Amino acid sequence: MRLLSALSCLLAAGAHAAVLNPWQSGKIFRNTPIAPASSNLHELEARQADGYWLNDIKKQGIAAFNDNPAAYKVWRDVKAYGAKGDGVTDDTDAINRAISDGNRCAPWVCQSSTTSPAIVYFPAGTYLVKDRIRMYYMTTLLGNPKSRAVIKASSDFNSVFVIDSAPYSDQNGSPAWISTNIFLRQIRNLVVDLQAVPVNKEIVGGIHWPASQATNLQNVKVLMTKNPASQHTGIFVENGSGGWMVDIETHGGNKGLSIGNQQFTLRNVDVYDANIGIYQLWSWGWLWQGVHFHDCGTGFDIGAINDTSREQQVGSVVIIDSSAERTGSFLRTNWTQTSKAIGAGQVILENIELKGVSAAVTGPDGTKLGGGDTTITAWGQGNQYTSSGSQRWQGTFDAAQRPKELLDPNGNGKFYSKQKPQYEGNAVGDFISIRDRGAKGDGKADDTTIVQNAITDSVAQNKILFFDHGVYKVTNTIYFPPGARIVGEMFAAIMASGSTWADKNNPVPVVKIGKPGEKGIVQWSDMLVQTQGPTPGAKIIEYNLESQAGSGVWDVHTRIGGSKGTDLQTPQCPISAKTNDKCLAAHTNVHITKSATGAYFENNWFWTADHDMDDAINNSTRVSVFTGRGLLLEANNVWLYGNGVEHHAIYQYQFANVKNVFAGYIQTETPYWQPNPDAKTQTYYPRNATLNDPDYNSFCAGLEVCDALGLRILNSENVRIYAGGLYSFFRDYDVSCSSPDAPQGNRNCQTRILSIENPKSVQLYGLSEVGVVEMLTVNGVDKARWSDNLSVYSNTIGLISV
Ligand SMILES: *[C@@H]1O[C@H](CO)[C@@H](O)[C@H](O)[C@H]1NC(C)=O
Ligand SMILES: *[C@@H]1O[C@H](CO)[C@@H](O)[C@H](O)[C@H]1NC(C)=O
Ligand SMILES: *[C@@H]1O[C@H](CO)[C@@H](O)[C@H](O)[C@H]1NC(C)=O
Ligand SMILES: *[C@@H]1O[C@H](CO)[C@@H](O)[C@H](O)[C@H]1NC(C)=O
Ligand SMILES: *[C@@H]1O[C@H](CO)[C@@H](O)[C@H](O)[C@H]1NC(C)=O
Ligand SMILES: *[C@@H]1O[C@H](CO)[C@@H](O)[C@H](O)[C@H]1NC(C)=O
Ligand SMILES: *[C@@H]1O[C@H](CO)[C@@H](O)[C@H](O)[C@H]1NC(C)=O
Repeated sequence: MRLLSALSCLLAAGAHAAVLNPWQSGKIFRNTPIAPASSNLHELEARQADGYWLNDIKKQGIAAFNDNPAAYKVWRDVKAYGAKGDGVTDDTDAINRAISDGNRCAPWVCQSSTTSPAIVYFPAGTYLVKDRIRMYYMTTLLGNPKSRAVIKASSDFNSVFVIDSAPYSDQNGSPAWISTNIFLRQIRNLVVDLQAVPVNKEIVGGIHWPASQATNLQNVKVLMTKNPASQHTGIFVENGSGGWMVDIETHGGNKGLSIGNQQFTLRNVDVYDANIGIYQLWSWGWLWQGVHFHDCGTGFDIGAINDTSREQQVGSVVIIDSSAERTGSFLRTNWTQTSKAIGAGQVILENIELKGVSAAVTGPDGTKLGGGDTTITAWGQGNQYTSSGSQRWQGTFDAAQRPKELLDPNGNGKFYSKQKPQYEGNAVGDFISIRDRGAKGDGKADDTTIVQNAITDSVAQNKILFFDHGVYKVTNTIYFPPGARIVGEMFAAIMASGSTWADKNNPVPVVKIGKPGEKGIVQWSDMLVQTQGPTPGAKIIEYNLESQAGSGVWDVHTRIGGSKGTDLQTPQCPISAKTNDKCLAAHTNVHITKSATGAYFENNWFWTADHDMDDAINNSTRVSVFTGRGLLLEANNVWLYGNGVEHHAIYQYQFANVKNVFAGYIQTETPYWQPNPDAKTQTYYPRNATLNDPDYNSFCAGLEVCDALGLRILNSENVRIYAGGLYSFFRDYDVSCSSPDAPQGNRNCQTRILSIENPKSVQLYGLSEVGVVEMLTVNGVDKARWSDNLSVYSNTIGLISV
């Protein structure tokens, strides 16, 4: 079987991925029927305490908007479905039963759903599988971080993927879901073992993971045999609009990771003994942070070229704080001064430590940067715009200094980061369950008082507050004081409803983290905040805390509309309704205020819905939900890792009067309905000068299309953007302005999307855009047009320094 031979750019309805099509339909998979669940499954409670609090805690998660919340099980233990985990028994069917039980959103028959979430738990053990494990929508596969379960492929393994999170149909090769609509899923704390599979049997991926926003692979290892003839790949991603992975380890195999997606952030990747450490299939842009190759043939291979068009398939990569030891070339590229497309194949390397590496960078005609034992401070290739003009370059460059406030305190010069806590060192007695405290979490009862009291008490008792899965309706602000540690089960949600948020000129927070002047640590993870019905005065998250190290907001997403229970779905907010007060749903999504410092956000999707995730009948019908501001940053010393901010009327990101920001990968989308009305019109949310809202009347004077800015950096100092994508796919729902097939001169969905005003040391790496004419506007002057920076469908500038 020949794989990975072809790349194609395409636009499917609602999906905007340059995508890979390696599949010959119908030939790849045997369709293993899943045996029916035994009738007494729900009595089979094989779950045993194993010292991991998330398993040990009483199971009270409820899928609030499921058709049958009383019977639906959010938590499933594979052993309750008959898996043995003894390394001998074939556990494939039992695991697949644990995943599929209970009328869930199944591959091919259901496009997406928020009402049938599941955590599938693997107690420590070795689970032998003879065929692929097939994920359903909104699923987390979870192991015990103290003793990770091993999924072991048998010697006669019968598929090309072991964990297949988005299967292709055996019949016609069609994918289970549109990859750009795969949200809300995780795999954590598992090991996949391919060592029993003969090396000449092709394994395309131990884990197959096309994914988009609000997803996570965390603390995952793939074991493969160390053999140069190996046909095995650890992790395979071919499509999607991601995404986030962290703490990934592969051993042996042909490729550690083989990976392509619009944009992604990966941190802490260790690849041992692979022929090719990381094969980059394609990208618009990417941030790799902390990648370490050990004894690999090649580190990164980003050389993919389309056989016909001869164009580079990788738009850009930014690689920082990484290393290689005893490895061939750290990075292989096919970029040259004359390679096509002119904006493709761009690279930034910063702080890369090499030991016993034959070359740092190799190109089509030999070594571009020597290896040995050395540290690469800053090296790149591609298109650059700096105060001294623009050029196409390959070589070292003067990177802006890293602000010391953003660095790891241990003095290694790397950027500070902190993984999402899983609290594996805590016992179940260290947690308070919100349901034990009496909260209903059924999407109907008003849980405001119970939730607030539980937070206050958990802090007083130095405990961690656990939000059992559910939708906790609140009618007033929920305040997180310093010391709050809050963790959700499978994206438990806080839902704001009611008149508190009725006034669009008087914003009120839904979740308020600290009060101005307060100092301390807050940790918050794996939750959602959403709204119900019109809440034009809602500020979904307000962050005021002077944060101490250890603070963070990980895998917390805001989802404004587009899901069951929000009353902001297809019936209420059809795209035909242009002036619909019932669909005004937030004044501001996230506000990190002047009072805050040290805020740390990681893997967050701040989303105003563009489609209805629970419209299984009409398949993700578009909706028009109207919100004002995306993420307003007014605080110093802030990290924004792996965020997306989408579909807000005034801007997506605005950094105003700040100092010391790390942001990457950041990603935005302009509202699909703009410019009807445009950003000047202020139909929904009038301009507020106190908040430094852009004055579009002057900014847009003479422009063809005046849409919300994707990123505005105003009066700010030491801003470091480590890759970003600012996308504008539509003009009033018409996609032809961003279509790759459109004639030259198109890509004009909007005129300007990035505005930098009065900068002091602002540097952006790997900045990609879609559908925008002017790529960069500095103090009102346009500096770079899309057409000479055309990359892989997107347009990219590798280095901007102003
Ligand atoms: C390669 O380029 C050709 C010519 O532009 C294009 O038609 C084709 O779709 C590309 N192939 C893939 C698989 O992307
Ligand atoms: C990935 O993209 C290719 C090309 O469009 C498509 O054939 C394939 O079905 C997609 N797979 C997934 C999982 O989205
Ligand atoms: C591009 O680069 C790769 C890896 O460095 C190399 O194997 C390949 O032959 C090159 N492809 C072309 C078409 O030059
Ligand atoms: C403008 O923003 C300030 C600060 O949030 C707020 O107090 C005020 O109510 C807002 N005014 C209007 C008219 O939106
Ligand atoms: C599906 O679309 C039809 C026709 O536009 C509409 O009448 C119906 O209400 C829609 N159903 C849902 C669940 O949105
Ligand atoms: C929705 O998707 C399903 C599964 O792909 C398909 O069978 C059905 O025809 C689609 N319905 C509509 C209205 O497009
Ligand atoms: C591409 O971007 C560079 C800045 O990196 C700019 O100088 C150049 O003018 C752009 N190309 C065109 C055609 O505008």
